Amino acid sequence: MYVCLCHGVTDRDIREASENGVSSMRQLGKELGVGTQCGRCASMARGILRESRSPD
Ligand code: FES
Repeated sequence: MYVCLCHGVTDRDIREASENGVSSMRQLGKELGVGTQCGRCASMARGILRESRSPD
């Protein structure tokens, strides 16, 4: 499922980024561009990032 249409980023891409150490929206924006254009994807992206973060 596409989360960020502006940059063609999927929920899977975000989970992958999270596994590779991305832990904030700022970092996600830097790595994948998520939330850096129209910003409509930001709240969903934040939720996915939070969900996929390991609970340690
Ligand atoms: Fe992500 Fe527009 S949909 S910045």
